Amino acid sequence: MTTWPCAAVPKAPLAARTTLRVGGTAEWLLEPASSSELAAAVQAVRERGMDLWLLGGGANLVIADGELPGAVIATDRLKRVWRWHGEGDPFAVEIPPEHFPEREIGASAWLVAWAGESMPGLVNRSKALGWTGIEGLAGVPGSLGGGVAMNAGGSWGELWDNVERVRILEPDGTIQDHGREFFTPSYRNAHLGPRIVLGAVLRLEQSHKIAVENKVREYLEHKRRVQPVTEWSAGCIFKNPPKEQTGGKGAGQLIDEAGLKGRSIGDAQISPLHGNFLVNRGNATGEDVMSLIDEVTARVADRTGIHLEREVKLWPAGGPLQAGS
Ligand code: EPU
Repeated sequence: MTTWPCAAVPKAPLAARTTLRVGGTAEWLLEPASSSELAAAVQAVRERGMDLWLLGGGANLVIADGELPGAVIATDRLKRVWRWHGEGDPFAVEIPPEHFPEREIGASAWLVAWAGESMPGLVNRSKALGWTGIEGLAGVPGSLGGGVAMNAGGSWGELWDNVERVRILEPDGTIQDHGREFFTPSYRNAHLGPRIVLGAVLRLEQSHKIAVENKVREYLEHKRRVQPVTEWSAGCIFKNPPKEQTGGKGAGQLIDEAGLKGRSIGDAQISPLHGNFLVNRGNATGEDVMSLIDEVTARVADRTGIHLEREVKLWPAGGPLQAGS
């Protein structure tokens, strides 16, 4: 019998753990409840020579049908957010946000969280505290770990605008904290390679609760108008190509102009609302989704000469140790 250093489930269904609700089962699903359990789980997977898949909030991820060989490590039990005063080890003492003073103008506004904390959870915390900085992430699904790894964001800002420090599980098994100057984040990619995010420190600024709430509300209302936010989707499928290549058009507009909105394969459909969203209308399979992504890529390339680069990760096509945000 295989034993693991944390909670483990064999043949675990994965679809419900993704925002697209597509995918088969994991040979093993591991659910560490602390960063040291996560480090031990990674080591155990490596010792067994198995493929390792890291699952955050399951956004931005398309999992194939059938059994995914190896071990999926889910970070959803590493879910906690707290404040830091700016001195000493930010990960050592967890001060619950409930104990935050309501208004402390001029004081530090640092939020610290483990990788499994949800992005909406972080935005809600900042809103409740009246701390400004991450309102632009309102409506972005997924976990902090995935968000850090892929520099989640949108038109109103990216997570790395506020990342100050990251606790990393290095490929050699050591745990190290790095300041933001160590990293070179770019559009939707923090270039972490095989490094695993355990937690991060976000630097926000004291503001007024009402001001933060208003911004969050404005961004969410915009998204509700233009994106299929109540449907199952993996977020934007493609990155926006460089503006100079497209005359400023985004991937959504290019797909729209190719007449692909509403196009379906099985229950996978290009959203009639926004061309860069693929939605699962109920029973889409991984195969439906991947075929539709291929078709859209080919049709846009034929029509415009532009090769859309995928933003979503594919498992297993993208290879192991891919973090699903
Ligand atoms: N447009 C169309 N047809 C469409 C979709 C969009 O003509 O089907 C036009 C819109 O009218 C608008 C322009 O394209 O003039 C830009 O569209 P939008 O404002 O929806 O922004 P986007 O570039 O498509 C980006 C991010 C989103 C993020 C939003 C809002 C990327 C690939 N997309 O979308 O991020 O939510 O801004 O901040 O960077 C994601 O990364 O998963 C994602 C959804």
